[in-house]
Amino acid sequence: MPAYLDHNATTPVDPRVVDAMLPYLKGPYGNPSSLHRFGRAARDGVERARAQVATLLGAQPQQLIWTSGGTEANNLALKGLCTGKPQGRVLYGATEHPAVMEAAESLKRDGWLVEKIAMTSDGLIDWPAFTAQCAAGPVRVASLMAANNETGVIQDTARAAPLVHAAGGWLHVDATQAAGKLPLSFVESGADLLTLSSHKLYGPKGIGALVVKAEVDLSPLLHGGAQERGLRGGTENLPAIVGFGAAAELALLELDERTAHVQALQAQLEAGLREMPAVRLFAAAAPRLPNTSQFALAGWEGEALLMHLDRKGFAVSSGSACASGSGEPSHVLLAMGVDETTAKGAIRVSFGKGNTSDEVKGFLTVLSGFSS
Ligand SMILES: Cc1ncc(COP(=O)(O)O)c(C=O)c1O
Repeated sequence: MPAYLDHNATTPVDPRVVDAMLPYLKGPYGNPSSLHRFGRAARDGVERARAQVATLLGAQPQQLIWTSGGTEANNLALKGLCTGKPQGRVLYGATEHPAVMEAAESLKRDGWLVEKIAMTSDGLIDWPAFTAQCAAGPVRVASLMAANNETGVIQDTARAAPLVHAAGGWLHVDATQAAGKLPLSFVESGADLLTLSSHKLYGPKGIGALVVKAEVDLSPLLHGGAQERGLRGGTENLPAIVGFGAAAELALLELDERTAHVQALQAQLEAGLREMPAVRLFAAAAPRLPNTSQFALAGWEGEALLMHLDRKGFAVSSGSACASGSGEPSHVLLAMGVDETTAKGAIRVSFGKGNTSDEVKGFLTVLSGFSS
């Protein structure tokens, strides 16, 4: 059996989530906006899921807007805050996912002043630089991720919030990788807007959410019906929403158990990696997700190593899945000051609840064969 060690790219749908979704594929097919009983049955499914997802992060259900995933939620946050507004500054972390980075860069083309937030060599916010940046003039929005998809580095977004607010801006937090892996509180994160995606926590793909405080002046990207308080027109994807709700409920219920499981696998992996002199583990000293390890093996290109490991039955990622195949070094590692050659050698292992200690053992054996 091949071992899937790429859970930050996506996760398998939990069979219990499939069971929760099936009735909504076979049964209530009404439009949640319809007033009749078919519509009401569908609406019940949507609203139950809204409460389940909101509970995962202690938010109010009415703060949640369904989107097609993390990418749309990030675009809605950044562009929805800027479109039609007087221009100002947009700040984003230099290690953000392309769904934030490219959304911000598109605002630059529209005339917004867009600046990156510098990171230290550990992938953490460079606080003196960020403090000075916030003090340099009004900010419209700053976007920082709760946890990085490549390195797993966890940011202190709560510390960033007062700096952004003092500059008159809103703080957007991309919590796509943190949700289901770390205890998450909308209030404590300091975020005014927060992104979630279902397929990173054993839910279906193509569904996510933006959690937004009532006072945020957000404009829709999609104009249409009055769904989602007019902030996201379009008939809701009922089975996927129900699946996301079920996945969120399970993630909260099983958080401690899942964390302990992947943490043990990560410790086993990293103990083995430390014995290989050719391995360099990135962000080793920073607080990181309990399931994520990114490293380079001297003398190897990440993608070549990935294909060799795949042939041996181990599915990992080189950099972020979105950049795979591009041959470009990871922008995350470059932002941390890693040289291009080393960055090109990056491999990411991200564990999930189905992985085993034997898989880690097998992986280390194969890897040590490549490292000698
Ligand atoms: C940090 C982060 N943000 C956003 C996304 C995009 O989410 P989605 O695939 O749901 O569009 C991802 C997916 O890899 C991610 O890791």
